[in-house]
Amino acid sequence: MPLTLPRVIGHRGAAAHAPENTLESIRCAAAFGVAMVEIDVQLSKDEVPVVIHDDTLERTTTGRGPVIDLTWRELQALDAGAPFGRPFAGERIPDLPSVLALCKELELGLNVEIKPSPGTDVRTAEIALKTIDAFGPIGAPLVLSSFSVESLEAARDLAPHLPRGYLIWERPADWADIADRVAAASINFDHEQETPESIAAYKATGRPLLSYTVNTAERARELFALGVAGVFTDFPGRILRVA
Ligand code: G3P
Ligand code: MG
Repeated sequence: MPLTLPRVIGHRGAAAHAPENTLESIRCAAAFGVAMVEIDVQLSKDEVPVVIHDDTLERTTTGRGPVIDLTWRELQALDAGAPFGRPFAGERIPDLPSVLALCKELELGLNVEIKPSPGTDVRTAEIALKTIDAFGPIGAPLVLSSFSVESLEAARDLAPHLPRGYLIWERPADWADIADRVAAASINFDHEQETPESIAAYKATGRPLLSYTVNTAERARELFALGVAGVFTDFPGRILRVA
């Protein structure tokens, strides 16, 4: 069955409106009316799959240092809302099960980006997939993605039924071979790194294309006109109007 992807995917929830990768951000994206949100997953010291983008804590939380150096209990004590704005103080770093539960409750599709800290590519994929499997269906589409080819290969082997998006930032020379090797269901590229020609080359593989992080209606229109299936955005309201 061909993969159908939404036109608009809330990036880290709705990262322009609420603290990224928190439950509040996911609720906010759902309130805008998106059909899917994207979140980033990495591991705590005690191998809990936690939802946070950077591999260090400073930018988005009240903590310090690498995420992987703290246990889940220690991470839970941090404030992941206050750095975004006072009204959000008290938001926590979620774990993956709480995101799965919220998406199920909201009937919201989910893109789990496997975001391993250095050296944990396979393990992060293993734990994320074990967690997704143990939780069971969320009642909405669930897709995976990663910049890590190792994580994608692990996902291909462990959960072949879950569609995998091959995330590309600076296009490697062998991108087409990698896409084949990981059996990518979609190619997810940074729109700022590409040209109409390179986008056409991605499209020629026959895969649906997703693009990040698209925050203006004008750029979204251009990408849709080039055949891009959907975009990740921090501003779901803006993009839904043109999608
Ligand atoms: O999955 C799209 C986007 O999230 C990839 O980049 O760095 O925001 O995780 P990043
Ligand atoms: Mg991401």
